[in-house]
Amino acid sequence: MKRFFDRFLKHMSITVTEMFRDPSFYRMVREELIPVLKTFPFVKIWHAGCATGEEVYSMAILLHEEDFLGRARIYATDFNKHSLDAAEKGVYPVDRIGLYGENYRDSGGKRDFSDYYSTAYGLAKMKDFLKERVTFSYHNLVTDGVFGEMNLISCRNVLIYFDKTLQERVFTLFTDSLRHGGYLCLGSKETINFSGVKKQYEVLSGRQKIYKKCGATHV
Ligand SMILES: C[S@@+](CC[C@H](N)C(=O)[O-])C[C@H]1O[C@@H](n2cnc3c(N)ncnc32)[C@H](O)[C@@H]1O
Repeated sequence: MKRFFDRFLKHMSITVTEMFRDPSFYRMVREELIPVLKTFPFVKIWHAGCATGEEVYSMAILLHEEDFLGRARIYATDFNKHSLDAAEKGVYPVDRIGLYGENYRDSGGKRDFSDYYSTAYGLAKMKDFLKERVTFSYHNLVTDGVFGEMNLISCRNVLIYFDKTLQERVFTLFTDSLRHGGYLCLGSKETINFSGVKKQYEVLSGRQKIYKKCGATHV
């Protein structure tokens, strides 16, 4: 029964993702959010609904290039254990790398994308140092609770599949998990505009769906 349920879950949860998806979003994180986050001695970043990890490695690469990875802890969570296992392995079909490299360059990437993986047998394995600051863990946004005091929460292309009631639950969970002055990043088709939490946020970019939780920031 459990095996059946696992297989069912794998098919039901949509795991479409890519590295540096929406390059202009990553450009804004690099150019506008990281300089502010760098004023903190240490930051916590939560990728909720991380799927197979492509977004997580993108963030790790970006932080590495901004000389900030060592001062960050990244929490990568999903409710699909198969996806989480894949995320932790960090191995992707090599035929995806062309698109990922293009996204990386468009997002303001500073090096050669091939610096970050090695290839063998048609697969690309992300370099191990990229996950040294990452904790992969199971978390269900519908049933589980607050996840630490985050400086940035990225939950992109997940809530689009939730109804309004569930979205409201998750927005409250995120608001309770964010420090004042922390950033909430959603997918291009997602918004907090119709949520009760809206008044607690300033819109940093309506286009990139980046919101800043109001209130004093204490370094
Ligand atoms: C379309 S993927 C988005 C991946 C990535 N965030 C991106 O934008 O490329 C949606 C992910 O949300 C996860 N997800 C859906 N419902 C969830 C829940 N209740 N709790 C945690 N993760 C969930 C799915 O397992 C899937 O990995």
